[in-house]
Amino acid sequence: MSNILVEMKNLKTFFNTSEGTVKAVNDVSFNIEKGKVLGVVGESGCGKSVTSLSIMGLVPKPGGSVVGGEIIFKDKDLLKLSSDEMRTVRGNEIAMIFQEPMTSLNPVFTVGMQIAEMLKLHTDMSSDEIDKRVIELIDLVGIPRPDKVVKEYPHQLSGGMRQRVMIAMALSCNPSLLIADEPTTALDVTVQAQVLEIMKDLNKKFETAIMLITHDLGVVAEMADNVVVMYAGKVVEEGTVMEIFHNPKHPYTVGLLKSRPDLIGDDDKLSCIRGMVPSPYDMPEGCAFEPRCDKCMDICKTRMPELKVLENGSKVRCWLLDEKGGNV
Ligand SMILES: Nc1ncnc2c1ncn2[C@@H]1O[C@H](COP(=O)(O)OP(=O)(O)O)[C@@H](O)[C@H]1O
Ligand code: SF4
Ligand SMILES: [Mg+2]
Repeated sequence: MSNILVEMKNLKTFFNTSEGTVKAVNDVSFNIEKGKVLGVVGESGCGKSVTSLSIMGLVPKPGGSVVGGEIIFKDKDLLKLSSDEMRTVRGNEIAMIFQEPMTSLNPVFTVGMQIAEMLKLHTDMSSDEIDKRVIELIDLVGIPRPDKVVKEYPHQLSGGMRQRVMIAMALSCNPSLLIADEPTTALDVTVQAQVLEIMKDLNKKFETAIMLITHDLGVVAEMADNVVVMYAGKVVEEGTVMEIFHNPKHPYTVGLLKSRPDLIGDDDKLSCIRGMVPSPYDMPEGCAFEPRCDKCMDICKTRMPELKVLENGSKVRCWLLDEKGGNV
């Protein structure tokens, strides 16, 4: 049996704006394995959120649309489903949590009512069973005194507790995939660690695959089995967490790691990647990272490298691999 849960192939999601076309996700392919955590990293604006919204069928309209590719989930192409079918997938099989839980929680209903509503919509449980399950779910995400918290409103909870409630709601229907888009970015460091720990536990206990989107490599090191590095709407490197952290190949990945020397045990001084992410309206002609890359060669200025598969299964999009046979 295949261990692949999601097979994304050549996804393209573009936005038409008054200034031109934004190729937010431009030919992105990767797999999410069953029961594993895939970390998706990259600086702000590189297409992480739009990739996840494409999986969920929630690309902002008007303006945004998926213009190409396939997203195969359990033998179905999600991009071919009707909006009703996609709603069913969202409720039962793929759930998503966001950076700021307050925007997804309804301020006028108690936490208990909101989790119960999810169960009412997506299961055929009786109301007694639902009441019991709501308490179980709140307990599951490590919220103390679930019997008290069910009666509280979102504004009465801290940011960390609200994010736990969101996770409880997301898990209410036992999804096989949880997409978490910067789930801990708004939280302080201690609470961040607790929320990540809960997600990790749930991944182990229920084998829920997680697509974890973050700009924070520390979070990826902690959580992920596999990593996709995105830059300017494309995958530039993909590999196991060991490969990415111990043997990064793409100069962008190396740059991201050098800005977190604590993660690689490198004594080098903290350094940032110079320059900025290119404007989506003014992409370089060749490699999108070329204006910021210290290793840039002539070819990089005119031709975009392909994503090459290496012997160990990692993938890298960089001309250096052709020049030096795989050693960057
Ligand atoms: N609703 C939208 N309209 C126009 N452009 C958008 C919209 N949403 C995102 N984009 C553009 O798509 C690109 C990718 O955005 P996003 O996926 O949100 O990045 P990330 O999550 O990696 O920070 C950016 O250039 C962003 O400006
Ligand atoms: S293709 Fe060239 S510019 Fe792009 S990352 Fe590789 S070396 Fe740098
Ligand atoms: Mg984002």
